[in-house]
Amino acid sequence: MVQGRAARSTFLALGLVGFISPAIAVEKGLTDKGEVLVRENCSRCHAVGLEGASPNAEAPPFRTLSSNYPVSDLAESLAEGIVSGHPEMPIFVFKPHDVEAIIAYLESIQDAPMDPEASPDAAPGETPDG
Ligand code: HEC
Repeated sequence: MVQGRAARSTFLALGLVGFISPAIAVEKGLTDKGEVLVRENCSRCHAVGLEGASPNAEAPPFRTLSSNYPVSDLAESLAEGIVSGHPEMPIFVFKPHDVEAIIAYLESIQDAPMDPEASPDAAPGETPDG
């Protein structure tokens, strides 16, 4: 009986590992996919990485988007066709899974978590990372 119980807890532990690791893999895959999508579609105008200036000076670097609104607010615009009001920016319409990937990627590169109290510039004493 003791043996049986041990076997069962081993089974449970394996089950847990099996449950957790694919979840992480999916998350990573999603972010990677989002990165590919924005590199292909957006990087000729926007800075899409953790540093660097946008090729098009008027296009905000993606890592700064959350200083204006939560990045997830973009999901709808991406799915329905993002219209920036700027004639230079083409209209994009993405499939729901692509939208999810782009949002996941954008969230992963934001400079700082969204904070309505925060000023757009780095707070005094804040160390610029990079
Ligand atoms: C041809 C150049 C160009 C491309 C390609 C481009 N953008 Fe833009 N984007 C701009 C410009 C210029 C602005 C600034 C618009 C403005 O100030 O109205 C902008 C602004 C934005 C904004 C901010 C809108 C706001 O109201 O704050 C978002 C979000 C955005 N772009 C997302 C994207 C995404 C996602 C892609 C790729 C799928 C992309 N852009 C591709 C030029 C571009």
